Amino acid sequence: MKKQNIVFVGFRGAGKSRFGRAFAEETGLPFADLDAEVEFILGQPILEFVQAHGWQVFREVEQRVTHDFSRNFSGIIATGGGTIENSKNLQNLKKNSGFVFLNPQFSDIKKYLLGEEVRGNYQRVNPSMPLAQELDQLWAQRKDIYAATAEHEVNPDFKGDANQEARKMLDVLPASILPKAPPKRRVAVFASRNGSTLQGLIEAQEKGRIPNVEFVLFVSDNEKAGAIKKAKGHFTAVEVLPAEKETSREEYDRALINLLREHKPDLILLAGWMRILSPLYCEQFGEQTYNVHPSLLPEYAGLMGDDVHSAVLDAGEKYTGCTIHRVSADVDAGETVLQRKVIVDDNDTVESLRKKVQKQEILGFCEALERR
Ligand code: GAR
Repeated sequence: MKKQNIVFVGFRGAGKSRFGRAFAEETGLPFADLDAEVEFILGQPILEFVQAHGWQVFREVEQRVTHDFSRNFSGIIATGGGTIENSKNLQNLKKNSGFVFLNPQFSDIKKYLLGEEVRGNYQRVNPSMPLAQELDQLWAQRKDIYAATAEHEVNPDFKGDANQEARKMLDVLPASILPKAPPKRRVAVFASRNGSTLQGLIEAQEKGRIPNVEFVLFVSDNEKAGAIKKAKGHFTAVEVLPAEKETSREEYDRALINLLREHKPDLILLAGWMRILSPLYCEQFGEQTYNVHPSLLPEYAGLMGDDVHSAVLDAGEKYTGCTIHRVSADVDAGETVLQRKVIVDDNDTVESLRKKVQKQEILGFCEALERR
């Protein structure tokens, strides 16, 4: 069976992101940098986060992200320097990935990291000893783990051009380890307002996070929606169908259905869509339409947008989150596809909660889109 991912492992600063990205470019495969994905969740650079909260919490978040990627991604993955020291991460990634040990000259890496410390970009593991000694110790501890984990080893020139080095790697690695490009899914998105979640999906696609997605149709029911501007240039068709007061729900949905028949999406995402869909729509497209609701349904069903976050704060909830569910004629009651939780902090406001939940909405949609 073809492996689903190629995972680059290797020492801190070995160039897993730089060479991994170049390798992805050369093979036309999507690329994920686990450190960058963790930073997306943390909302701040790893260095700052570790200084504020310590390594332990960082490793927990990293584990969650690694788990998500090992299940849902297909392409080239650059791990963080310590990712595979955690046996759960290793176990998860091993299920469906081929491993490549990225091993340029250690002396080049060391020189680069010593410079990084001077530039203030290096988080010490053992500040009681000089960095050169810390690096030698870490290298001695980890090099055998990298070698034992990976089925293949490549030795790029650290100072060389990344794409040229990636092409050399392709010459030495067996073609059989390259994952197959996933089949494309035609996706439509409906949004009524600002389109924050839509924006996140567009960025995810640009980063290669949802390589199997082709955005074919965007629809808004509100000509003033900020989402329209965001969608332009990213969808094959951008349509605005303003709802007239006298139009019945079913009449409106007939126009929607006509658009769907024309553009034939496999999946329709409601990313901040504030209209209730008619039984006619649900009968024909409910199964392939995923709505995101900003709560852990069935809690707070029937409310919309910020009203949900206000109600969560008023009730003093400790957790909230989002639910992605199929659309049915009963509002917010279709089959759950997945849920993602967030913690409600004492100082959260409607605004901060909305931001946290929307991040999970984006990740949730990405996960749903990657499911095969
Ligand atoms: C969406 O992100 C979602 O949480 C919620 O409204 C937000 C709109 O955000 N959706 C619903 O309540 C659907 N019933 P936006 O104004 O940034 O597009």
